[in-house]
Amino acid sequence: MKEKLLQFKKRALADLEKIKNEEGLQDFEVKYFGRKGEYNAIVKELPKLEPVDKKDMGRLANEIKLEIEERVNKTKRELEAKKLESIVNDEWIDKTIPGDKPELGHLHLTTQAIKEISNIFSRIGFQMRSYREVEWDWYAFESLNMPKSHPARDEWETFFVDLPQGKKGKVVLTPHTSSGQAREMELGKLPIRMTNISKCYRRQSDISHVPMFHQFEGLFIDKNLSISHLKGVLDYFARSFFGPDRVTRLRPFHFMFTEPSFEVDISCDVCKGTGKLEGSDKCRLCKEGWLELGGAGMVHPNVLKAGDVDSNEYNGFAFGWGVERTFMMKEGTKLDDIRILYKNDLRFLEQF
Ligand code: PHE
Repeated sequence: MKEKLLQFKKRALADLEKIKNEEGLQDFEVKYFGRKGEYNAIVKELPKLEPVDKKDMGRLANEIKLEIEERVNKTKRELEAKKLESIVNDEWIDKTIPGDKPELGHLHLTTQAIKEISNIFSRIGFQMRSYREVEWDWYAFESLNMPKSHPARDEWETFFVDLPQGKKGKVVLTPHTSSGQAREMELGKLPIRMTNISKCYRRQSDISHVPMFHQFEGLFIDKNLSISHLKGVLDYFARSFFGPDRVTRLRPFHFMFTEPSFEVDISCDVCKGTGKLEGSDKCRLCKEGWLELGGAGMVHPNVLKAGDVDSNEYNGFAFGWGVERTFMMKEGTKLDDIRILYKNDLRFLEQF
C-alpha cells in the first residue's frame, strides 16, 4: 500500500507540473481526486489492512493528499496570475486614442425648413400653430366659402376618410392649411396673427407632387389691413428666407376664400428677375424672371362670418403654400423630383 501511495504521489506531482490551463487542472482533480479517482481507489483498500498498518497508511494517505492539494492550490494561483497577465498583454488598449464618434443624424430637410419658416414669422409676431391633419369638411371647405358640391372644391383632390358624417360633414385628410383659418378664429381672440404649419394630403403624385406634403398658412386679422400689409409681409419673408435681394409680386388669381386673390411669385435668383441670362436669351430656371410660390389674398367676408368675426369691423389677409416647394426653390436646392424628399435615401438626405 505504501508503495502504491508513493507512486500515486509521484505521478500526480509530475502530472501537475505539466498543467497549462484551468481545464487541465480540472481534469487533474477528476482523475486523481474525483469520486472514482485514483486516490479513492487506493483509500478504499484501507479497511482491508491490519489495524497497525491501517493507522500509518491512513496518516500517510492524508499527508500525501494535503501535500498535493497544496500544490494544486499553488498551480491554481499561478494559472490565474498568468491569465491576468495575458489579458493585460493581449487586451491592452490605448486609452489616449480618440474614440469612434457615433454618427449623428440631423433633422429632415422639411423639418429644417418648417423651423426656419416659423422662426421668420415669429419674429414679426405670428404665433405658431399646427392644426389638424384629419379634419371636418366644414373646416376644409364650407367655412372657406366653398359650399357643398361647389366645383371649386375639385382643385383640392381630397382624400375622404371612411367614417360616419358628423354635424360638420364628412371627415377628410385636410388638403390645405386654410382649414386652420376658421379654427383659429373660433378661439375668439382678436387680432389674429398666426402661422399654421401642418401636413396636407392630396391625391396626386408626380415629379412636383407628393400625396402627403406640408403647407404653411399665414393669417392676419385686424382692423384696416390692406394689400400693402400683405405685400410687406410677403417681401419680408422672401428676403428672410431666400436672401436680401429677393422680392415678390402679386398676380391676380381666384380663390373662393379670398377677395381679391393672388398668386405670389418670387423674383428668380438665377437671372435676378430679368428672365434673361448673359449669352442666352432665356433663364434656364424661371424663363421669365419669376417663380411661383403660392396663393394669397384678402380674407373673404364669408370666411370671417364662418369664424364668427364681424366683417364690418375686422378684415385681414391670408397666404399659404407648400413647405417642400418653397424649400426646393431656395438657392442651391434645385431638385428635379420632389418625391426624393420622402424616399429616405440617406445619400440624398445627408447632403442637407
Ligand atoms: N389654401 C390655398 C391652396 O392650398 C392657398 C391659399 C391660402 C390661398 C391662403 C389664399 C390664401 O392652394
